[in-house]
Amino acid sequence: MSRRRTVLHAAAALTAAIALPAARAQSAPFKVGLILPMTGPFASTGKQAEAGAKLWLAQNGAVAAGRRIELILKDDAGVADTTRRIAQELIVNDKVDVLVGFGLTPLALATAPIATQGKTPMVVTAAATSVITAQSPWIVRTSFTLPQVTVPIADWAAKNGVKKAVTFVADYGPGLDAEKFFKSQFLLNHGEMAAEIRSPLRGPDFAPFLQKVADLKPDAVFVFLPSGQGTAFMKQFSERGLDKAGVRLIATGDVTDDDILNEMGDVALGVVTSHHYSAAHPSATNKTFVQAFEAANRFRPNFMAVGAYDGLRVIAKALQATQGKGGGEALLGAMKGQVFESPRGPVLIDAQTRDIVQDVYIRKVERVAALGNQLYNVEFDVQKAVKDPGKAK
Ligand code: PHB
Repeated sequence: MSRRRTVLHAAAALTAAIALPAARAQSAPFKVGLILPMTGPFASTGKQAEAGAKLWLAQNGAVAAGRRIELILKDDAGVADTTRRIAQELIVNDKVDVLVGFGLTPLALATAPIATQGKTPMVVTAAATSVITAQSPWIVRTSFTLPQVTVPIADWAAKNGVKKAVTFVADYGPGLDAEKFFKSQFLLNHGEMAAEIRSPLRGPDFAPFLQKVADLKPDAVFVFLPSGQGTAFMKQFSERGLDKAGVRLIATGDVTDDDILNEMGDVALGVVTSHHYSAAHPSATNKTFVQAFEAANRFRPNFMAVGAYDGLRVIAKALQATQGKGGGEALLGAMKGQVFESPRGPVLIDAQTRDIVQDVYIRKVERVAALGNQLYNVEFDVQKAVKDPGKAK
């Protein structure tokens, strides 16, 4: 080999050696740490959200801007200390690019400081207390807030013959949000509040609280309970004879959750709720989504599945916007302001609040002949582009 060729070879080898780490970095997997309650009393949230996240990836080849999106799923069993520890490990050991999930408010609140310290975007796909997004500038939310879905049902109730109401909520963040915003909106509409009743989040026995509702004889009881508790509540509501006593049940859609609605049976018929997602939402986007979801899983998607499906969308589009480079600040910037058609309807990630702006529907539980004679939340009214009313002005 001539000396000249040797030099050229050496130069080429050097160039390759310099270029290699950069090329490798570009094609390294993009790591998404998904933390969910996969066991414990809120495991249905984990099951739905995992299925939603995986469906988005499956439909999009798990690739954005040439980088493979790797999902690292961890179970926090719904325990805040565990969520926080897992988040720390995912950032420090696994070097995840983004955190996503958070099945309950206390789990999201416990993790917010970790996202801030780690300068890691944290996409909340489930937890729904208004204040969450204010706990870290790195939080973006694709679920909803309780004030957002509660104000529309308080308006509806006042316009539809409910003069005296009682609130009945789970005693923690989202329940307190629901109680506060139902009360203020209902009073504003000249309604009368008879009582505000709270039941413990864990292991609730609804009977004594429902007896109190029965004694007060309101026109309606407004209920918020987290996803998964609706079936037990509905059973006790009818066993206590509240439906027969003329107390109307109104709620946020967490109570008539698509995950469990069909098993509730006829006691759920006619219940009016407000929420941002129904599996029966009559858009082409949603029909395609539900079909694909049910083909991949043996159950119907609920709002937890949609929150996670959209969460992965927001993450992947942000990665695309950075041409695959990622980086906490750049990803966060590219998440803000995204506008897209979700299975729930049109949505916006508000750049100022990092919270989701979306349509909120009023729905009634009906048996739908066109959907296998099963129970669904059938939308009949809508408030368009609702921002979280819980944000301080
Ligand atoms: C919450 O803890 O923020 C939460 C959980 C389940 C829901 C709604 C809110 O259905």
